[in-house]
Amino acid sequence: MAELKRTLGLFDAFAIGIGAIIGSGIFVVTGIAAGLAGPALLLSLIFGAIISGFTALSFAELAQARPKEGGGYEFAREFISPFAGFIAGWLWILSNVVVGVVVSLGFASYLALFIPFPVNVNIIAALACIAVTFINYLGARDSSLLNDILVIIKLLILALFVAFGLGSVKSGNFSPFMPTGEIGIMQGATLIFFAYSGFARVTLISEEVKDPKKNIPRAIILSLGISTIVYMLVSFTAVGLVGYKVLASSGSPLADAAQSVGKNLAYFVSVGALVATFSVLLTTLLGLSRISFAMSRDSDLPHFFTRLDKHSTPYYTVLVFGFTMAVLALFSNLMQAVALANFGSLLYYLLSNYAALKLENHVYPRIIPVLGIITCVVLLVFLSRDAWVRGCIVLLAGVVYYYLLKKWQKNRVNAVGGS
Ligand code: ALA
Repeated sequence: MAELKRTLGLFDAFAIGIGAIIGSGIFVVTGIAAGLAGPALLLSLIFGAIISGFTALSFAELAQARPKEGGGYEFAREFISPFAGFIAGWLWILSNVVVGVVVSLGFASYLALFIPFPVNVNIIAALACIAVTFINYLGARDSSLLNDILVIIKLLILALFVAFGLGSVKSGNFSPFMPTGEIGIMQGATLIFFAYSGFARVTLISEEVKDPKKNIPRAIILSLGISTIVYMLVSFTAVGLVGYKVLASSGSPLADAAQSVGKNLAYFVSVGALVATFSVLLTTLLGLSRISFAMSRDSDLPHFFTRLDKHSTPYYTVLVFGFTMAVLALFSNLMQAVALANFGSLLYYLLSNYAALKLENHVYPRIIPVLGIITCVVLLVFLSRDAWVRGCIVLLAGVVYYYLLKKWQKNRVNAVGGS
């Protein structure tokens, strides 16, 4: 059986969390969510954090019980059923291929600010996906070291934005605070939830983390906690600087907010956005390659996905998903993609909470996974119909694939047994 090497310490694991979390959500989706919720975007962010928090604790519990490559896929497989595991893995792949598309589009919209002539954002996004494919191809250790550096840079730049922006915040920009009422806040939460997704990414690479029973739960809780604080501070500053309407009408909202303080700050923030989105893209593909490795090891995906090269990288999966993201990036629309990514991750989180509920020994109160399930359902209700339709089509395709695969595997066993 193919084995992976344990090369990642607590900081690497935490940085993979932050690397996966802080990206297009805060740099781009904040604008769309501000348009829906107004300054009460801050409340949408709190809701998003609480909902993610319940699910993060469920993941922390599951990771202690079962620190094996594959995250929610392995958890659902082990604690619910092999079919539930397959569906969790399938949903994760759907959600993260689309996350990759959103993030590459965010990267492209900030890169366009540096290019003096009009460019096609979708083409830049596709090229970014291809670049990240080659970095991941070089191996987890190499890309994890690069990820550590990128994470430090993006946190520093966001800290700079808050430090220089806070002094110029105008209280008038917070009133009216809830122009669209509670519904607007919930719709904002449903989209800005995207900004938190990635907090469980490290569970996918459990077999590459040293002392996983301790380091993985710590990395999950630490990365979600720190990104929540960062999001609150950054959003408060951005709304306070230019008001929610300016943010809502921009493809690069934090750069516009920073511009009101000065050109240099806008420049730094744009560099930060490039670094952040690039690092999310990097860990998204890292995660995609690892979950499909786990699924193919269990015969739920084609066997060639388990092949490792000399750097211990499942290189086929890196290439297949990297290029799929690149092709989709050419044709996608940002808002629809965010909603579809959230559809996939919310269902995946729902299954993972259910798996946590089935654990025999609980580290945290049993109510946590129950609240995780309820809150995921609430957000799903507020998702657009478009996301539901597309998501259900992909889900159905997964069910059909699974049925045909199991039938084929059974026939093969019978044929071998009979010969
Ligand atoms: N949370 C990730 C981001 O905001 C997906 O880019």
